[in-house]
Amino acid sequence: MHHTTTLFHRACLGSPIERVPVWLMRQAGRYMKEYQEVRQKAGGFLELCKNPELSAQATLDAARILNTDAAIIFSDITLPAHAMGVPLEFAPGPRFTSPVRDFAAIRQLKEIRPERDLDYVLQAIHLTRSKLPDHVSLIGFVGAPLTLAGYMIQGTPDTHWLELKKLAYGEPKVLDALLNKVTEAVTAHAKAQIEAGCDVVQLFDTAAGELAANELHHFAFGYARRVIQELKKLNKPIIYFARNIGAHIESAADLGANVLGIDWTITIGHARRCLNNRVVLMGNLDPAVLLTNPDEIARGVQSILGAAKGLPSFILNLGHGVLQYTPPAHAAHFVKVGQSYKW
Ligand code: CP3
Repeated sequence: MHHTTTLFHRACLGSPIERVPVWLMRQAGRYMKEYQEVRQKAGGFLELCKNPELSAQATLDAARILNTDAAIIFSDITLPAHAMGVPLEFAPGPRFTSPVRDFAAIRQLKEIRPERDLDYVLQAIHLTRSKLPDHVSLIGFVGAPLTLAGYMIQGTPDTHWLELKKLAYGEPKVLDALLNKVTEAVTAHAKAQIEAGCDVVQLFDTAAGELAANELHHFAFGYARRVIQELKKLNKPIIYFARNIGAHIESAADLGANVLGIDWTITIGHARRCLNNRVVLMGNLDPAVLLTNPDEIARGVQSILGAAKGLPSFILNLGHGVLQYTPPAHAAHFVKVGQSYKW
């Protein structure tokens, strides 16, 4: 079977599907003992990311154990920034030890060539694709420009994103200069992932919803659109996942991606009414529901799919990544309930 005819691929294009395809953002992670073992074998998280055999194994383990319709390459959104020359550690979250906050630091950033600087990701893609069952799609990913730039500016994950906001509201030219370079890097990286064998590519815009309307449109959507428009030339489905975008869902749907991933702060019913089929929807169970029990998980899935029913296609996912203390059996149950739903 060619990968362009998989259920997941057809769902991304909005073609008719016989059942709903399911995968989970961050499906390979610390909640899974197989992942813990592979990371230990590699000697650390960054070492794992740079080891094609072991990162392929992390991807394949998660997809096999959960029986998902798509696998996602094992990597991290921060790696292109690392390749641009920004020192990076993980403890266990990412930490840029010299945050990028002014023109001088931006000037230092190197232009990346993925075949040279992120070759380990491309090798992992080749290996993963060669071992993944044909009916399972392989998703590549990058951080959307604003989200990756946000991490480079903050240095570490931060709930309030105040350094990012200080630039967005107070020194917009500095943020534009950084976003221009980050946009080049993530576009090149995403293109290389598609060329290496990814069937679909996802942009993670986790930080999009942090900004006020004008800045959201300019700094998040404006640069994400540039990446998407470039990638479209390669003719593979593109997923744009944005968190907390509330009232701006229509603009997010119009960036050019085939699929819009949403979190649980927007209902599927509301998204349907706003968007009228102009994009395929993906989402949106609160990952915390996976911490409860099988019945509650089934209720959550049925409520989402009930609201999606009648759409040409839909992709079931969480509204954000799997949480650390999720019982793996609960994640597998989520997949099974979604796949057995009568569409
Ligand atoms: O199955 C998969 O999806 C694995 C591949 C993957 C990882 N990170 C591995 C990872 C993906 C798709 C990501 C995306 C990512 N990374 C995002 C976007 C999605 C989101 O969660 O918002 C972001 C913001 C990052 C940056 C990042 N990397 C954070 C915030 C953290 C720490 C928090 C956490 O959940 O662990 C990381 C580290 C990281 N990336 C881990 C994994 C498995 C854990 C590190 C470890 O094993 O010690």
